[in-house]
Amino acid sequence: MVTSSPLRFDVPVGPQQLIDRREELAELARGAGRRTAIRLAAPRRFGKTSLLHAHVAAMREVGHRAVVVDLSDVGDTAAVLARVAHAYRALDPAAARVVGRATRRAGLTIGPTGLGITVERGPAPAREQLEPALLELLDVPARLHERDGGLCVVCFDEFQDLLQAGTRLDGSLRSVIQHHGDAAAYVYAGSEPSLLRALFTDRERPLFGQAQPLELGPLPEEEATDALVAVLEAEGFDDPDVGAAVDLLVAEMGGHPQRTVLVAHHLLRRLEDADADGRPDPDELVELAVADALRATDDVHRATWRGRPKAEAQVLRLVADGIPPTGADARRLTGMAASTLGDAVERLVDDGQHLVPDGRGWRLVDPLLTLWLRRETA
Ligand SMILES: Nc1ncnc2c1ncn2[C@@H]1O[C@H](COP(=O)(O)OP(=O)(O)OP(=O)(O)O)[C@@H](O)[C@H]1O
Ligand SMILES: [Mg+2]
Repeated sequence: MVTSSPLRFDVPVGPQQLIDRREELAELARGAGRRTAIRLAAPRRFGKTSLLHAHVAAMREVGHRAVVVDLSDVGDTAAVLARVAHAYRALDPAAARVVGRATRRAGLTIGPTGLGITVERGPAPAREQLEPALLELLDVPARLHERDGGLCVVCFDEFQDLLQAGTRLDGSLRSVIQHHGDAAAYVYAGSEPSLLRALFTDRERPLFGQAQPLELGPLPEEEATDALVAVLEAEGFDDPDVGAAVDLLVAEMGGHPQRTVLVAHHLLRRLEDADADGRPDPDELVELAVADALRATDDVHRATWRGRPKAEAQVLRLVADGIPPTGADARRLTGMAASTLGDAVERLVDDGQHLVPDGRGWRLVDPLLTLWLRRETA
């Protein structure tokens, strides 16, 4: 769902609320123009889905057909089929007819949300029976192109989950889309950078070398500050203290998109609750907002910390404290060998969710996890 309310931190934001990402959108537009596929990897909550929606909106504005296919948590071929059918039938009435025919032939009815799938007759069809219908659906862009020469921009979100549904589905996809030439331009987004990378850089996989990488980094501080100050102004908070507080919070969140917006949301709550003459100063306001955000995300951090093998948890804690995770201090503090800690660093970096290289060292992706670890494991 795309929302229009200010400072949403729990759902993808609409194109109007998108902060910056101009270069990424330009890159995606260039990719569509050249029909070059793009893979977009970023950690959780970095704004992938929001960016895809903005790209779709921009592409529609210039007259292309464009759609996001949400593949998150697809568990089997039927689920993939339902998600593709749901997305493609909204492209155009002609596409909806192709989708209707393909799903009926497979004996299926797709629910209105694209999540449910009903078998029209007999027992649930096996994967082999569903695959022809899926291939037919995936070819919708080519059918539309034959009719009117138009371009379909197709953005697969959480693309790595496709393999959960079937380890050979990337091969099925490739077999259809390799013929799409001018008919379609694909974007593959995912929040598991290593899995997504493997799909496109492992020579054994069918999509090897089939998409250009595009990284989604932190938000630039100036753009984030300007955007948040504008939102707070629109809510009636437009004095210099508010600007100073936003500056502080943006710097403290280091450009992490969702964390920046989450803390800004708590700042807004604090501003609303404070009476005009007794309002805390900017430092205090940000401290309170960050504490609120930490409370709201406590269970997530606890699960990250507890759910990790011991060496990885220790590496996260060390990096949060600014201690090089394989150095002498780290070895002394943890009683672990450099190789154990080094392996843990490698696994964490490869996973791409919590630890990223930073200059010659590392930093945690989530600034709130950094603060939580400093506090909870001190
Ligand atoms: N460019 C941006 N401008 C404004 N807010 C953003 C931006 N990018 C991310 N956000 C914030 O992050 C939240 C998550 O965004 P979104 O759902 O697009 O991220 P995601 O990477 O798709 O997350 P997930 O990994 O959970 O699927 C949004 O609710 C919003 O608060
Ligand atoms: Mg998403």
